[in-house]
Amino acid sequence: MKILVVGGGGREHAIIRKLKQNPQVTQITCLPGNAGIARDAKCVPIKATDIDGIVSYVRENPVDFAVVAPDDPLALGCVDRLHALGVKCFGPDAKAARIEASKVFAKNLMKKYNIPTAAYEAFEDADAALEYVQTCPLPVVVKADGLALGKGVTICMSREEAEAAVRAAMLEGAFGASGNRIVVEEFLEGPEVSVLAFTDGHVVKPMVSSMDHKRVGDGDRGPNTGGMGTIAPNPCYTPNVAKRCMREIFLPTIEAMKAEGCPFKGCLYFGLMITQDGPKVIEYNCRFGDPETQVVLPLLKSDLLTVMMAVENETLADTPVRFSDGAACCVMLASGGYPGKYEKGKTIDLGNAEAMAEIFHSGTALDADENLVTAGGRVLGVCCTAGDLQTAIERAYAAAGEVKWDGMIYRKDIGKQALSIQSRMKVYRGC
Ligand code: AMP
Ligand code: GLY
Repeated sequence: MKILVVGGGGREHAIIRKLKQNPQVTQITCLPGNAGIARDAKCVPIKATDIDGIVSYVRENPVDFAVVAPDDPLALGCVDRLHALGVKCFGPDAKAARIEASKVFAKNLMKKYNIPTAAYEAFEDADAALEYVQTCPLPVVVKADGLALGKGVTICMSREEAEAAVRAAMLEGAFGASGNRIVVEEFLEGPEVSVLAFTDGHVVKPMVSSMDHKRVGDGDRGPNTGGMGTIAPNPCYTPNVAKRCMREIFLPTIEAMKAEGCPFKGCLYFGLMITQDGPKVIEYNCRFGDPETQVVLPLLKSDLLTVMMAVENETLADTPVRFSDGAACCVMLASGGYPGKYEKGKTIDLGNAEAMAEIFHSGTALDADENLVTAGGRVLGVCCTAGDLQTAIERAYAAAGEVKWDGMIYRKDIGKQALSIQSRMKVYRGC
């Protein structure tokens, strides 16, 4: 089988490594991929957002199955266009992708179908939003409606901060058209859990839970990033929480999307907060998370392609999705300065890391002399699985210590909080 994967980061690298385990897969093409992915798949330099380019490539180079991984092409209707060509795909169509691409859509859906989430108001008018933040309870969270590279959320402790966040989004165009509408919502507290789930629009099969580490610095300090590391399973996701999530969030969301005429097929990512009042949705993503995928897929025992095809063919109910009993840790190695300005083109020395861990490439390239160099903010994900979380973390850090480049940064405490919580919790292991 010939497979196409759209995207070019660590998530796509992890997906490709897993797809390759199916002996029926004869060729994987990745658009655009990166230097690491090029060792596992044929990479063609067509941007993931160039939907016309992707469609004409597929017209000339037919594939049997396509996986569209990032949010932008999904929101731009890449799956709709590939379906129109008769290509089977994994990923939601544009209508279903609104669950991530529009926070107003997602919040209204949750309100209408009683899915627990933070209380909120949506605004299209800056004056009304500015007036609202003069009296709303604090802290308050201001969110741009549309996709904003994970930067559209501002947690505001004071009215001045809230006012500034509203102005930045709605009047100063900080997030482009994504900030034309905003959601202002209640600040929630509690541990966060990411649950990725396969769904074919009818049934939902959650994967093993995970925990992201979004802030750039140790101890959750500094600005938000795309994710500096992950562990799985998440010890806060107890059997009781898992049961409540299924009943109160996962199934109602699938039913709600169906009832709205936009059944969701693909990987639905539930960003959850476990509050005093139970689990609540912080955000939905219409795709695999990055770097959640890098810890979740290595623990998947079932064949990924079989599951993805079952999602597309709406036969997920009959397809087992099993995970191993182990644990996984991914430490992200990033460029100095990230998530702000950073330099590219630094030569990477992997040392012995590849023998010690699975290395998923997020932002790498080859220079004119074929040396591996940095080409993004997040550069490499160093991932290990083991029978227990502590060992997975130790192994990932041992391998991360092998890698060097000028200005490399990484968090030293990925999984630390999870380990301390774990000693008090019994963990649920997916379906
Ligand atoms: P998002 O980009 O929607 O994932 O939000 C980024 C981060 O902001 C989340 O992972 C949370 O840590 C935080 N956040 C978002 N919404 C809320 C909220 N209502 N209350 C507290 N924290 C939030
Ligand atoms: N790691 C969070 C995300 O993929 O959005």
